Amino acid sequence: MVHGNLSVELGQRVATAVQAALDLPITPAEAVIRPSRQPGVDYQSNVAMGLAARAGRDPREVAADIVAHLDAADLVEPPRIARAGFIDLVLTPACLAQRARALAADERLGFPQVEGSRRIAIDYSSPNVAKEMHVGHLRSTVLGDAISRLLRFAGHEVVPHNHIGDWGTPFGMLIEHLVDEGLTGPAAASSRGGLSLGDLNGFYQEARKKFDTEPDFANRARRRVVLLQGGHQETRELWQQLVEESATHFEQVYQLLGIQLTPADVYGESFYNPFLADVVKQLSAKRLVKVSGGAICAFPEGFTNREGEPLAVIVRKKGGGYGYASTDLATARYWIEDRGADDLLYVVGSPQAQHFAVVFAVLREAGWLTDDHHAEHIGFGSILGSDGRTIRTRAGGSVKLVDLLVEAIDRAATIAEQRGELPEEQWGTVARAVGIGAVKYADLAHDRRKDYVFDWDRMLAMTGNTAAYLQYAHCRIRSVLRRAGVTEEAATEAPVLLADPRERELLVRILRFPEACAAATRAYAPHKLCTYLYETASAFSSFYATCPVLTAATPELRDSRLALAALTSRVLTLGLSLLGIESPERI
Ligand code: ARG
Repeated sequence: MVHGNLSVELGQRVATAVQAALDLPITPAEAVIRPSRQPGVDYQSNVAMGLAARAGRDPREVAADIVAHLDAADLVEPPRIARAGFIDLVLTPACLAQRARALAADERLGFPQVEGSRRIAIDYSSPNVAKEMHVGHLRSTVLGDAISRLLRFAGHEVVPHNHIGDWGTPFGMLIEHLVDEGLTGPAAASSRGGLSLGDLNGFYQEARKKFDTEPDFANRARRRVVLLQGGHQETRELWQQLVEESATHFEQVYQLLGIQLTPADVYGESFYNPFLADVVKQLSAKRLVKVSGGAICAFPEGFTNREGEPLAVIVRKKGGGYGYASTDLATARYWIEDRGADDLLYVVGSPQAQHFAVVFAVLREAGWLTDDHHAEHIGFGSILGSDGRTIRTRAGGSVKLVDLLVEAIDRAATIAEQRGELPEEQWGTVARAVGIGAVKYADLAHDRRKDYVFDWDRMLAMTGNTAAYLQYAHCRIRSVLRRAGVTEEAATEAPVLLADPRERELLVRILRFPEACAAATRAYAPHKLCTYLYETASAFSSFYATCPVLTAATPELRDSRLALAALTSRVLTLGLSLLGIESPERI
């Protein structure tokens, strides 16, 4: 069988050679096959060094032993041993030609479907009701969407759930404020209580201020929470009004972003309310909780507070209410037990790392999370302004996501207009693809664990590691194909000849698509795919600058170069689509 992933396949061959040469069982991953940075070398293995150290032998000798037993002539030239025992691997022309054919014939471009597909519940976006989505929610939304697309493409069953903050104490004050403002009753409800999107933040702040300064209001708010949690009908309706108002706003952002989340994916905190009492009951039946200061707490092993005492996780508050952690325990139990999820993923900012570590620990002690499941908090850093601090508007407020996305589209439209290469009626759609693509790509191209600086000029630039650079490379290729009068499909059928080193370089890049996808999926790291796409587009640029396509010396060479261009285009389109970014025909 042709394995699309050359580095895995080479790893298997090297592992077999290690077994034959040294009688040691190692996994293909332990054969450590990496793409090489050295010109003319495609892959490198440093397996000999580790093994030599263990056996107290000379690494070059061990490498020579492995190479002598390596059966890979169908893939690579006889390997050279470099420096301190690296094994340099160079793909043969026959292998390259055969792989190019296989890749061209496969709409997945060589990326295999997983064996043993998993049902993965993934929590992402998860904004809060009665508050506008801000840039902090952008990362969760964009990363979560790209990670879901990658996992789905790999063949997993991905079930997204949007854990919106629609429950808890703030709703007491929000509802009381609604009542005070006379925004209730059928007339007000039908006009959505007169609340408009932009008012939501202000509304929240007013309610907060009253809560903090007026004791009578604060008391009413607390009683209102009890009514809400007790299912009091009128209170429920008022709450519903707030939730719906926010939902419309979230929908608007998702539509602008082109995100795959739908209203059916909303499983807000309120959804788990009916399960909370039972979660606490089961935890006490399992003797995992103790009463501490009136609250019911779990003390998962291995966690301590600042004083070095066992860390208390409140599962039921003093007054009988439940908090963020209780809800997450119920959420996880629901997805595992009621929805049959194998794995649980949470795309949530890194400041919540401790929260998830603690929740996972309690879930394990309760036996709800077992070794058969994989639970992971996919954390991420902040978006910073040019001053290196959390991004703010000029007035110092938090940047609203809608405003930011509209600005991205406006800026992209201005750029399209200035370049003047497109008919006016296309500016709108192109601006959306380029503007939204720029914002998403800037977020995805950075290692998610780090903070990054939001910079309009950089993210919209046509050069560098940006969406526009990739989209533009794709457009150039489409234009060459149009001029040649061939479709992309037809073009990829031609045999690829490697006359110039830049052609070889480009083909080797293209063939790494499965590796890049695998690496990005495995580590929930879309930036690895971004880096790969950028390198591929750069390799295309060098190729295109030196190797004439339409005016190539022979018809065979012309067809071969058109095939390389068409393959590049397919890599870019598929890669961008896995990131949730469009590849327009023209930009
Ligand atoms: N609503 C929360 C926030 O804005 C994020 C929720 C994340 N998901 C979860 N299951 N805790 O910070």
